[in-house]
Amino acid sequence: MGSKRAMLENGLGELFEKEVPKALRFVDLFSGSGAVAARVSTRFPIQVLAFDLQRYSAVLTAAVIDRNQELKGSYALESWIRRARKRVTKVALTPSKLTRMFVADARAWSEIQAELPITKAYGGHYFSPQQSVWIDALRATLPKNEPSRTVALAALIRASSACVAAPGHTAQPFQPTATAKRYLAEAWSKDVVARTIAELRTLAAQFAVMIGKADVADANDAAKCVRERDLVFIDPPYSGVHYSRFYHVLETIAQGCCGEVSGIGRYPAANLRPRSKYSVGSESAKALGELFQRVASNGARAIVTFPDHTCSNGLSGNLVREIAGQYFTIREQSVKSRFSSLGGTGDLRKNQAGRAARKHASELILFLEPK
Ligand SMILES: C[S@@+](CC[C@H](N)C(=O)[O-])C[C@H]1O[C@@H](n2cnc3c(N)ncnc32)[C@H](O)[C@@H]1O
Repeated sequence: MGSKRAMLENGLGELFEKEVPKALRFVDLFSGSGAVAARVSTRFPIQVLAFDLQRYSAVLTAAVIDRNQELKGSYALESWIRRARKRVTKVALTPSKLTRMFVADARAWSEIQAELPITKAYGGHYFSPQQSVWIDALRATLPKNEPSRTVALAALIRASSACVAAPGHTAQPFQPTATAKRYLAEAWSKDVVARTIAELRTLAAQFAVMIGKADVADANDAAKCVRERDLVFIDPPYSGVHYSRFYHVLETIAQGCCGEVSGIGRYPAANLRPRSKYSVGSESAKALGELFQRVASNGARAIVTFPDHTCSNGLSGNLVREIAGQYFTIREQSVKSRFSSLGGTGDLRKNQAGRAARKHASELILFLEPK
């Protein structure tokens, strides 16, 4: 999951220490992994609101910010795992060696599991059949009551993300080729259940100082609820390919189902995945301008982060600075960051994404005050 975790230790965290205490609320308009919203809500006595187009993001974020107490009770956890275990049949597809033939069998078996949506869509691809059967069982038997349900679902999403047989995101699974086979074998050998339990314990211990709210919404709509004295965090997409293409597996686990999937990436149909103006070259600058205008006219201050180069959605550090300058006075710093190129050149678009799969880059941090 792309995240601001590294930047929080590198400039961004310090800026929060200085600016968050002056604000009444903190509003994260592109919450992604939820790392930023969780960081602020667990450290400061301030309400945090978080929004993203994708449900999995809202689940991950809500698991921490919607709660102001540790989640206690290992009994609930044990009974969840027990309920799931009752549904899990041992899949008789466990090879000593991962061959093309075995992978083909795993895919064929998975595809006919009509009652198991995650197995049917992704078994034999992103997960081994046995892993995906467990993910289906855990998804189907989540605790009924909140906040246990959301925390358990977030733990399952995080564990699945850690086990997925794909390079960093889920645009394409590893294939059983001579070079990628060992990565596929390594991913398929991971214990989804043990990881889910570990993630749940980590999440259960985190909670907000003040109860906040995470939701699925378009940032430009959510910005209408921004008020004077809010501090708004804006970390918009930089990819010209929709994020829903990279995170559809996590989104399916969050939703519990998906429609038919197709292609090597096993994507649900494009019209069933969230579409963002920020990932369309001809619309991104206009969308960002409208967002800045809304935040500034509501009298709120903002922190923006953006890679300091031209990105595949047509936005660049310079352009973001120029658009922001129409509505705000700007204080600026630049920090070294690890930059995920998401699809970059390897997303089947023959470099239409327009940049190399960079690993290290500079990232701008702009602090904005309405003019
Ligand atoms: C650069 S990432 C944010 C990463 C996040 N700050 C973190 O630490 O994980 C951009 C996020 O914006 C979301 N997104 C894209 N278009 C959006 C829109 N119009 N409104 C709200 N969220 C959007 C994507 O789903 C993605 O999670």
